[in-house]
Amino acid sequence: MAEDFSVKFTDKQYLPDPSVKKNSWIGDYQKAYNAFIKDPDSFWDKNASELHWFSPYSKVKEWNFPHARWFPDGKTNIAYNCLDRQVQNARRNKVALIWKGEEDTERIYTYRQLYREVMRMANGLKKLGVVKGDRVCIYMPMVPEQIISMLACARIGAVHSVVFGGFGAAALHSRITGAEAKVVITADVTFRRGKSIPLKHIIEEAIIDAPSVEHVVVLRRELHQPVEIHREMEVDFYDLIKDVSPDCEAEVMDAEDPLFILYTSGSTGAPKGIVHTCGGYMVGAYYTTKNVFDIKDNDVYWCTADPGWITGHSYVVYGPLMNGATIIITEGTPDYPDAGSYWRIVEDFGVTILYTAPTAIRMFMKMGEDWPDKSNLSSLRILGSVGEPLNPEAFEWYYRVIGNNRCPVVDTWWQTETGMHMITTMIGEPMYPGFAGKPIPGVVADVVDKDGKPVPHGTGGFLVLKEPWPSMFRAVFKDPERYQKYWDTIPGYYTVGDLAVKNKQGYIMVLGRSDDLIVVAGHNIGTAEVESALVSHKAVAEAAVIGKPDDVKGNVIKAFVILRLGHEPSDRLKNEILYHVRITLGPIAMPSEIEFVTSLPKTRSGKIMRRVLKAKEMGMDPGDISTIED
Ligand code: WT7
Repeated sequence: MAEDFSVKFTDKQYLPDPSVKKNSWIGDYQKAYNAFIKDPDSFWDKNASELHWFSPYSKVKEWNFPHARWFPDGKTNIAYNCLDRQVQNARRNKVALIWKGEEDTERIYTYRQLYREVMRMANGLKKLGVVKGDRVCIYMPMVPEQIISMLACARIGAVHSVVFGGFGAAALHSRITGAEAKVVITADVTFRRGKSIPLKHIIEEAIIDAPSVEHVVVLRRELHQPVEIHREMEVDFYDLIKDVSPDCEAEVMDAEDPLFILYTSGSTGAPKGIVHTCGGYMVGAYYTTKNVFDIKDNDVYWCTADPGWITGHSYVVYGPLMNGATIIITEGTPDYPDAGSYWRIVEDFGVTILYTAPTAIRMFMKMGEDWPDKSNLSSLRILGSVGEPLNPEAFEWYYRVIGNNRCPVVDTWWQTETGMHMITTMIGEPMYPGFAGKPIPGVVADVVDKDGKPVPHGTGGFLVLKEPWPSMFRAVFKDPERYQKYWDTIPGYYTVGDLAVKNKQGYIMVLGRSDDLIVVAGHNIGTAEVESALVSHKAVAEAAVIGKPDDVKGNVIKAFVILRLGHEPSDRLKNEILYHVRITLGPIAMPSEIEFVTSLPKTRSGKIMRRVLKAKEMGMDPGDISTIED
């Protein structure tokens, strides 16, 4: 692991207009931060009290390192806070959700309509025998029914596990069996670039040897899709909710009851089921959405993430709806039918807050300024970024071309495990391109060496979180050791797994992962998962993968492959192996390059030294190779 290295950066600063701070929820960052530090429990109590609780909590937190209970004994329901609370007030007929499909299709739900659909689906799930605590897997494209399904689970206390629609059968299978899902909700197809892509056969394959699954609910978007297998398990989404009552009381949940499981890639072995709970997660998602995006009632908010990722959970669905916002979701891709599609959505719907990923921003940079210039982007007031470092060039382009030098850019650093934003530059504060910013009020973070000692500014180190926060994950599903490991690496702290550096002003720049994860287009990919997919191909004896810097995606995956005896390297075999990874793990985990090799650098204990492969690939010094075997 790297440590104590110096990092070069500039002091270039952008100052927002003073009116931004004056009109914001957060006001002065330092003042808000000081208030938090002075009395963390009152700070969180105040934020939690803006939400509805069926009965109050006895205290704000119980902290027995590394286990926390937030708002213990408090009773609440996050779906109630997203919907019932809004239909009881002036937001009843406000637009909650705008869905924009490909080819100019649109659907709009007011808060009341969404509320009723969610209650119908909640009753539908009950009809299938789903009860509080059961797990439900949601494997769907970005359609309103995906969000309706999530909220319906939350309403009845079922634990959802949303799996991104881009995952393949093997990845989906391990997530279904890992969570022991009783019901899987899916769709027959997803639409992408004008074509329909079948999803249902992936589910059919994924539920083989998944004995927990009792029913598969299928949203049918194309008629004439034949039922292939498991006919007796299948239920049509709209048949299920056709004759049910549109009334369903929200289940009274304990703050510490699980709300959802979300799988994230780990550096070793199977993906980790990150567990979030009802009360703490709710408060964290609500507070950050309100303050980081400064949501007001006339905002039109668009987060481009898929609910299959944590960004979609916290900042498409739960955070914005708890704040009564109007949200937009789209099924389309940013460059279809052309590179102007995002900017037309901004103009057509008058988007005021846009939250997207550096990989998309860099793609737009490549396409040129003519595309955004064709649309009127003057409705925008805040720009957000998430998923990987927003490099200074991309920051500047986003700020100048999309924000017309007037919109604050919030580069938000956080993780599946944190559930909410942890580090960013609060609107109204000076912005330093390349630096995400400071810990938000509510968060204590620092850059330290391997013993936990803070490193001076300009010196790189490990990013750690020093104090618990409400939306922290409570567990890795059925794997207490993996939970413990986060807290054992640097004693006393939560080790994030990222390298970072601070500037004189205390702003944090995140440099990238320090472990065996590759961030591709903002998605965390575990080297272990890709390697095991590669070696499951019959021609592959051994494999190692590394991340290679890429202009658009941040990183791409390069695979080094040793073939089994009797197989000869060829382009045809390369394509076959790539296709194999694509169908097992999904397109997002597919290497962009394969090199056939005859040996791999390993330690004496047999661990592949990816760092050596990477250095060689990049033409750099491999550093200490004293532990290398050969
Ligand atoms: C990892 C977490 C948070 C939702 C999306 C990813 C990287 C995330 C930033 C940022 C630099 C970032 C980190 C982090 N990351 N946001 N603003 N600047 N790096 O969630 O899959 O749990 O991945 O993504 O490496 O540890 P995730």
